[in-house]
Amino acid sequence: MIDLLLGLQWGDEGKGKIVDVLTNKYDIIARFQGGPNAGHTLEFEGNKHVLHTIPSGIFHDAAINLVGNGVVIDPVIFKKELEKLEPYNLDLRNKLLISRKAHLILPTHRLLDQASEAAKGSAKIGSTLKGIGPTYMDKTGRNGIRIGDIEAPDWKEKYRSLTDKHLQMIENYRVEVQFDLKTLENEFFEAIETLKQLQFIDSEHYLEKQQRQSKKILAEGAQGSLLDIDFGTYPFVTSSNTTAAGACTGLGIAPNRIKNVIGIFKAYTTRVGSGPFPTELFDQDGETLGRVGNEFGATTGRPRRCGWLDLVALKYAITVNGVTELNMMKADVLSGFKTIKVCTHYKYKGELIDHLPFDVDEKYVEPVYEELKGWNADLTGMRDVNELPTELHDYVTYLEKALEVPITIVSVGPDRTQTLFRNS
Ligand code: IMP
Repeated sequence: MIDLLLGLQWGDEGKGKIVDVLTNKYDIIARFQGGPNAGHTLEFEGNKHVLHTIPSGIFHDAAINLVGNGVVIDPVIFKKELEKLEPYNLDLRNKLLISRKAHLILPTHRLLDQASEAAKGSAKIGSTLKGIGPTYMDKTGRNGIRIGDIEAPDWKEKYRSLTDKHLQMIENYRVEVQFDLKTLENEFFEAIETLKQLQFIDSEHYLEKQQRQSKKILAEGAQGSLLDIDFGTYPFVTSSNTTAAGACTGLGIAPNRIKNVIGIFKAYTTRVGSGPFPTELFDQDGETLGRVGNEFGATTGRPRRCGWLDLVALKYAITVNGVTELNMMKADVLSGFKTIKVCTHYKYKGELIDHLPFDVDEKYVEPVYEELKGWNADLTGMRDVNELPTELHDYVTYLEKALEVPITIVSVGPDRTQTLFRNS
């Protein structure tokens, strides 16, 4: 049985926290797309951990964590993540498995990302500059180097020829990118040796075998549905399929094996990087959401743009993913607002619509809001849904009705214990 856990907005919904909370129910946690552009934050026992490539089930003894074929891996960042795990004495050789078909991010992929963004000028995507786009380009261009390749003795020849090609491409961009390739390569090859200490596996076969043994698998998404390469706000998106279908191709699992699709969303909306964001706030309310919600990118530290919840976009994400249950994050951040706004429709080229149009551009799209009553209570110490203020209950019920999917978790803080389960 396979469940999916996906972000329904522009990323940073709190997927890492929920995977960590739910891991006890699963035998295997598997990442299926993206790379170290992700920053999954987990908090427990007074400690905060940010994971970039390693799945969020790593701190649970019983769970196997798998980095699937759809993921792109930067060995240098991966090594740093492994070093941060050292104090926990985890049996990583047996707990952390890597698909041979996952692609490698080379140092020059990162440089290409920089060059490409610099060349775009004001049209830049706001990439995390981790080399994600260029690595997926090499994957689909059939030039990429995969984890399984580094087991072959002559893989460095392949590396050299791809790197030479990248250097030529960087020159062609005619922008200034400063780098010291020797240092980057020393760091890279050292990290490759660290990576080799882990188990590389044919993960699609592995997962098939585990399913035959009735093991429970949770596929952990990264980024959000609105950053999906096909269904997101293109071109301001990431380079992988962040939606449910990505779990099939990114792990080699059949669609009919998927049971629950858990959709994670914040009680409001945030976005980091460029691109359309119809409900974005530029006023005091937006500033409050950012400050109270501590809205800074876990990977880049950039301030996130903030706005009210957008039901038009959320419904779209629910449909594309086939979401069966919803988890609402960061409800505590809305405490103190007299009124809470929810976008129910867009005014699009003069017409009232309730679906996401092709061009979600502020030139054409104006959000239409409904107002709900806010609450003023500190939720962070609450441990039972029945303690929540009536207005928050009303907010949740209103959303369930509008979205036609049950909300099974309301999160009231970053810690594991601040997770309230609802039996709706
Ligand atoms: P890239 O995938 O690093 O090239 O970034 C492309 C776009 O996706 C940029 O707007 C990034 O800010 C955004 N992005 C990438 N990864 C994340 C994430 O994990 N959370 C939120 N936004 C992300």
